Amino acid sequence: MPRRTPARLDQCPFLKPFAGQAANAPPIWLMRQAGRYLPEYREVRAKAGTFLDLCYNPALAAEVTLQPINRYGFDAAILFSDILIVPHALGQHVDFKEGEGPVLEPINSVEGLSRLDTSKTVDKFGSIYETVARVRDRLPTQTALIGFCGAPWTVATYVVGGKGSPDQAAARLFAYRDPEAFSRLIDTLTATSIEYLSGQILAGADVVQIFDSWAGSLPVDQLERWVTAPTRQIVNALNARHPNVPIIGFPRAAGVHVPHYIDETGVDGIGIDATMPIPELKERIADLGVVLQGNLDPLLLVTGGAAMEARIREILAETAGAPFVFNLGHGIVPQTPPSHVARLVDIVREGRVA
Ligand code: CP3
Repeated sequence: MPRRTPARLDQCPFLKPFAGQAANAPPIWLMRQAGRYLPEYREVRAKAGTFLDLCYNPALAAEVTLQPINRYGFDAAILFSDILIVPHALGQHVDFKEGEGPVLEPINSVEGLSRLDTSKTVDKFGSIYETVARVRDRLPTQTALIGFCGAPWTVATYVVGGKGSPDQAAARLFAYRDPEAFSRLIDTLTATSIEYLSGQILAGADVVQIFDSWAGSLPVDQLERWVTAPTRQIVNALNARHPNVPIIGFPRAAGVHVPHYIDETGVDGIGIDATMPIPELKERIADLGVVLQGNLDPLLLVTGGAAMEARIREILAETAGAPFVFNLGHGIVPQTPPSHVARLVDIVREGRVA
């Protein structure tokens, strides 16, 4: 069932699955397609200053967004930014330490919440919208532009924990101990994300993706409260303001909860990680009419060769006839050889040859 008629549907192969159209050679883009595995990224990154300096510099952020398009001709570009721009714009101290990842001044009590100030976001988001507009100006007409944000739950795990963690324990504990305070945090992130994604759409994004990288760490009642309910709020608000803009959800590691997530949130596309069995999922979600996106293991892209090629062809076979976007199951890792990415694109572009 076609659900959306995106404005640039006729120009962009990437948008066709969202109107219910399957293609022999599915469109392709890769999560984290701009980044450290590309020498041209490392060059710009070195002259930009800090990682946040790069994110807030529209000229350089636009250049980095376009690098993987120039090199590989992907069907979609994704805005170069980070999910932690949202807490940073709300006034939280955020730093990206070399080799350590993000470090934030943790907000893990009701008192800490007063450090978040929604009136502060306008300036910071302005430079991100400027990047979107610049990319849109320079992008080939057939290439779609994806805007994004982190889902409230995933962003909250960094806001509360102050860094990445294997089990998101700090946020889970805060949510159990003081659900009212945690719910205020989620509400702030939800409202801010709606404005942020809406701003990206007005600046030229054709599609938006909500990254919920840590959706897999919650029991079902918590998942319902902190993942699906806020995501549904974002989807509803964006659908009301921008009815033709498709929304992709990526509840990573949510496993058996994925059909429920699709049903409850109303997303148009579903990003699936490498552990999800496509044939089974396809059957279970057939009547929900969503676009599947995924799910090559990023480590097979590091491996390359016959193992990578066999799985690419298997994914193509498994998704035949379905509205599908080729992608990885999670972001490209820095040790990925760029030549393996070129090979992947070649194979997907050959399509499902007999
Ligand atoms: O996909 C793209 O090409 C667009 C850019 C993008 C980045 N981060 C750039 C980035 C996107 C969509 C993200 C999303 C993001 N950021 C997520 C969700 C997806 C996922 O990977 O689970 C998360 C959890 C983050 C938070 C984050 N940002 C972490 C944990 C790290 C450190 C780990 C790492 O890879 O360095 C970052 C930094 C970051 N974000 C880099 C890039 C290119 C590397 C920073 C550098 O170049 O120094």
